[in-house]
Amino acid sequence: MTLYASAPSNIALVKYWGKRNTQHNLPLTSSFSVTLETMRTWVAISPLSDGPDRWALYGNPKKAMRVLTEARAFTHNSQPLAISVHNDFPSGAGLASSASSMAALAFALDIALNDGNTPLSEVARWARLGSGSAVRSLYPGFVLWEAGQDPEGRDCIAQSRFHASQLPLDLIACVVDDRTKPIGSTEAMERCRDTSPSYAQFHARNADDLRRALHALQTQNLEALGQVSEENCLAMHAVMHQAQPPIDYFQDGTHAAIATVRALRQQGLPCFFTIDAGPNVKVLCPPAYTPALRKALEHTAGVTRLLFDRVSDSAARQEPTWPAHLPAHPPSNTISPQQTALLSSTTSFPPTGAA
Ligand code: PMV
Repeated sequence: MTLYASAPSNIALVKYWGKRNTQHNLPLTSSFSVTLETMRTWVAISPLSDGPDRWALYGNPKKAMRVLTEARAFTHNSQPLAISVHNDFPSGAGLASSASSMAALAFALDIALNDGNTPLSEVARWARLGSGSAVRSLYPGFVLWEAGQDPEGRDCIAQSRFHASQLPLDLIACVVDDRTKPIGSTEAMERCRDTSPSYAQFHARNADDLRRALHALQTQNLEALGQVSEENCLAMHAVMHQAQPPIDYFQDGTHAAIATVRALRQQGLPCFFTIDAGPNVKVLCPPAYTPALRKALEHTAGVTRLLFDRVSDSAARQEPTWPAHLPAHPPSNTISPQQTALLSSTTSFPPTGAA
């Protein structure tokens, strides 16, 4: 029997940028994010009568293999599987597609290999070993992911701190460039750790930024939430700009979208931006202002298209069916584990734009 699951992307408002342990993929600092609704990765899994596993995978094969290996080790279940993983939004461009894909994969593997009986904190560990930020996509609404201190990450746990209804927010993603980013986040974090003079400074502000963000949510203060989110995001990008050689994910359209958001705010429209490891700008606003923002943002130079989503309580979930617009499952184009091992950690399969 085939099972289906999906998980949404999540976007950090207070970001992590650096790891305290690469083997266990543990973040150096805690982070605070919003879980989205419609930008999802879909996973279908069916049992095979014999091996090897068959994959159709949008995303990073090494990361996916790591999640599968952990899931099998925990569940002691080596049932061969046909696995399809498909994003229905651009991959690898700072829209957190690795978060949604690893969260969806881990969630689906728990159902396939353990009838959904694995504690969510353990499923989160599998997801984390694929992509750190994937942990947050397993939880609804406004999510706090605590870095913890335990060397093996036993206290590195995420939890939902507020329902989405605490401060209803729409998200408009201004797509400037949806090609895979030139440097992956793990490599970029390492370069910043090794060379950027403001790396430590960014981590020193983390506790205060988290306190400000949580207080803004408690008091339903959008302006305060926007202020800390923008400051935190720009501080993270400043760390990258000061690395050697510098990492600059921004493009002309990124700067233009930032300028539009600032101008709209001047005109009295409540909104703020955040940007992850990519050129695309995510704008958050109360739902009533989305139509006005849409008009201004779609005419911003360098913004190629807009994607719309909202902060949501939907998180990862089992699905009754497979969306008709996604490639059929079981997949006809597959990669074997042998091929997977040959692919580098920065390669996505099939390459972006291939299907
Ligand atoms: O864990 P990764 O590889 O998905 O890195 C996430 C890095 C940022 O998106 C820039 C920050 C964050 O907290 O999501």
